[in-house]
Amino acid sequence: MHPLQMVNTRVGRTIHRSYIGRRVGCSQPVLVALFIISGFVFLFFQMAGMMPKRPVLTGPPSFAWAPNVSRNISAYVRPTVTTALMQPENFCQDDPFLVFVVPSAINNTKQRDTIRRTWGQWAGCGPSPPSSIDEGADSQGTTKKKSVLAKMMVAPPKTSKLVFLLGKSKGDQPISETLQEESFRYGDLIIEDFIDSYTNLTLKTVFMLKWVHRNCPTVKFVMKVDDDIFVNVVNLQKTLLNQTITKTPLLMGSLICGAKPIHDQWSKWYTPQYMFREGKYPNYLSGTGYVYSGDLVERLFKAALAAPYFHLEDVFLTGLCARSIGVRPVDNVGFSYHPRAVSPCLFKEVIMGHGVGPSTMVKLWNMLNEPATVAKCHPIKKSKLRSYNPKCSWR
Ligand SMILES: *[C@@H]1O[C@H](CO)[C@@H](O)[C@H](O)[C@H]1NC(C)=O
Ligand SMILES: *[C@@H]1O[C@H](CO)[C@@H](O)[C@H](O)[C@H]1NC(C)=O
Ligand SMILES: *[C@@H]1O[C@H](CO)[C@@H](O)[C@H](O)[C@H]1NC(C)=O
Ligand SMILES: *[C@@H]1O[C@H](CO)[C@@H](O)[C@H](O)[C@H]1NC(C)=O
Ligand SMILES: *[C@@H]1O[C@H](CO)[C@@H](O)[C@H](O)[C@H]1NC(C)=O
Repeated sequence: MHPLQMVNTRVGRTIHRSYIGRRVGCSQPVLVALFIISGFVFLFFQMAGMMPKRPVLTGPPSFAWAPNVSRNISAYVRPTVTTALMQPENFCQDDPFLVFVVPSAINNTKQRDTIRRTWGQWAGCGPSPPSSIDEGADSQGTTKKKSVLAKMMVAPPKTSKLVFLLGKSKGDQPISETLQEESFRYGDLIIEDFIDSYTNLTLKTVFMLKWVHRNCPTVKFVMKVDDDIFVNVVNLQKTLLNQTITKTPLLMGSLICGAKPIHDQWSKWYTPQYMFREGKYPNYLSGTGYVYSGDLVERLFKAALAAPYFHLEDVFLTGLCARSIGVRPVDNVGFSYHPRAVSPCLFKEVIMGHGVGPSTMVKLWNMLNEPATVAKCHPIKKSKLRSYNPKCSWR
């Protein structure tokens, strides 16, 4: 009920009681009371008419992958031809150890810029151009204070490279000038030929496999990571080089076990019955960030092309496709899909943290590259690195 309606009825009731209470019978005060009450009733309906109407609920949002839409991934991804509308040239010619693929929405320019200026520098992103070092301007844009980003103090042992993966905007518009400029300036954008949307993220993931397969055939590891993630590339590389932890074929991240499909049509993770008939998803890795070894690129790509489309990309690739080639995803406490505390001592020991906006990313980068800050850190117990632990069984 609207607050205004409540006030009206309450006032009406008070007056009603005070007049009726005194005398019984059809005397003058009762008539006055009735008159006043009808006045309020009239006013009430007048105001109700003026109030903005609630939107009429017509049912849950329609699901893009309707039963009659083709789920033939091959037909969308066209594995044997080049589909990229824009891509960096000779990206892997210097034979990087590790390639980061960051799926990003067209309009997430700020997130991309922040990654390039912060942890992306650990992955070969160029030094920040002068035009983008203004940070911390308030919302009115009045005071612009400059924050100078810390230089890279600790360097990862091996080479890494980073590339952003985008789709097209709706309505088949040509690639915008700003995007062309961004691509020209940094040479780190892939734009693939599909419409970028939430339920199309699995297509993005398969395009990632296709692109890496065709352009980086000798890469040792690939990490898929969202654009709101901070990656400690130094730790990641150390983990990947440590053969006690890393055994190939490797598919590693934050493991999720026993998750059930959500049949509530309002949910962001809605899965219709016809898309997935089992009661539980296979164990899979959170899509916020996962890493896989180069020897899995082609195997996962082929498995993905042969599978019917499933719209949750992490369940699809690290659950369904991995299961179909007999590879078990492994959990590593350094990966977390819950946001972590913004602490240099924590981020010094982990591999990635989720939900990191641009200003936090700058903060973390600066703190981690300040030797005095990091030197004060005490080691953190493994069990304290993450707020949850998956309980897993394998069939
Ligand atoms: C699928 O069915 C809906 C109606 O249920 C129709 O509007 C739509 O055009 C169909 N799509 C295809 C690809 O056949
Ligand atoms: C999927 O599409 C590809 C290419 O269009 C075609 O060659 C293949 O036969 C299709 N697969 C199925 C199962 O329909
Ligand atoms: C991106 O931003 C432009 C301009 O602000 C807007 O017209 C467009 O709809 C946005 N695209 C998406 C996919 O949100
Ligand atoms: C997903 O991408 C395909 C290929 O570009 C397109 O036909 C389809 O409309 C897209 N779906 C959504 C929901 O954007
Ligand atoms: C590799 O990882 C194991 C297990 O975490 C650890 O005990 C060992 O010290 C690591 N080795 C190196 C060289 O970091």
